[in-house]
Amino acid sequence: MIGKQNFPHGFLWGSATSAYQIEGGIENDWSEAARQGKIPITGKACDSYDKYEEDFEIAKSLGQNAHRFSLEWSRIEPEEGKFDETAIDHYRKVIKAIRDRGMEPFVTIWHFTLPVWFANIGGFENPKASFYFARYCDYVLRSLGDKAKFWITMNEPMVYVVQGYWNKKWPPFKKNFSKFLKVTENLIVSHNLAYQRIKLARPEVQVGIAKNNKCFEHNWNPFNFFLAIISKWFWNYRFLNRISDFQDFIGLNYYFSIKFGGKKTEQKTDMGWPIYPAGLYKVIKELNKYGKPIYITENGLADARDSKRESFIKDHLYFIQQAITKKVDVRGYFHWSLLDNYEWAHGFEPKFGLVEVDFQTLERKIRPSAYKFKEICETNSL
Ligand code: BGC
Repeated sequence: MIGKQNFPHGFLWGSATSAYQIEGGIENDWSEAARQGKIPITGKACDSYDKYEEDFEIAKSLGQNAHRFSLEWSRIEPEEGKFDETAIDHYRKVIKAIRDRGMEPFVTIWHFTLPVWFANIGGFENPKASFYFARYCDYVLRSLGDKAKFWITMNEPMVYVVQGYWNKKWPPFKKNFSKFLKVTENLIVSHNLAYQRIKLARPEVQVGIAKNNKCFEHNWNPFNFFLAIISKWFWNYRFLNRISDFQDFIGLNYYFSIKFGGKKTEQKTDMGWPIYPAGLYKVIKELNKYGKPIYITENGLADARDSKRESFIKDHLYFIQQAITKKVDVRGYFHWSLLDNYEWAHGFEPKFGLVEVDFQTLERKIRPSAYKFKEICETNSL
């Protein structure tokens, strides 16, 4: 199926992580909930707070020319309105360490976890949430905005509301549709306000969000057809439509498809998620209507045996390449994840890393599929 194909000149190749999943030693709403036994404990995680240079050295050795990571809000603003310069200094060093290794940093400002003070006043349910969020973003950009060009205000807002306000799986463990809608609305307003404040402070940077979109399909049964259309609008586009004037690029996180009706024949990842690379093509093509550059900010799988990762990567890249030949402006691909890490409510069991981590010794071991991905990154071709 796959022939030799080049990616556009300057294409960004990287992997992605987030602070709470790898850094270790963080006190926030998740660590509080873990203490109450509601979710697994992270503890030291990968200890990347101390080992970030080692991690970036690995990413560089794997031929990557970009890296996506996140800041931890609870470190930067541990108390309401009090910003911690030591935390900023740390992240300044982190960005420098990425740049020193020839990689382009993509910085996520908020990736799911909240400072305890913010969670205690209702988090994104609070009517003033957008004010707090935009103030945090503004501080970050004034402090670090000259260090990186690409900024992602928030990661997967729809996943955040579904897990926290409908599935009861993540803090604040609620099931309340009116709160779900209210929080979604507050996230939209928060992003739009943050975008404007960031652009005022740093007009030269590029700002977007990382949006989880799925490929919704149906078997032509009228009811399933209707379900697929509604789901697509509600999950993929409702949020994006509302922020379309306030983003310079679209960050797309793609993992799987949802099919209403019909036989499910796809292979599955260790998470039980169906592997459907062609769905990425469909999702990317539909994003073209926004007329913005697209970066695949996450795509990956849990695969402890590393038996499916190589073909997963190649098959998804094949469809990205197809979209590019149809004039869709895709400019980069970040694999999730660089390291095995804390997979939220699932703890450390799912193995998403290009690099295996032994959580006892914290030793990193590069998986065979990572070397296959390296060949693609280095040759800029598939
Ligand atoms: C999130 C990551 C997560 C990954 C795999 C995305 O929803 O941004 O934090 O680990 O998917 O579930």
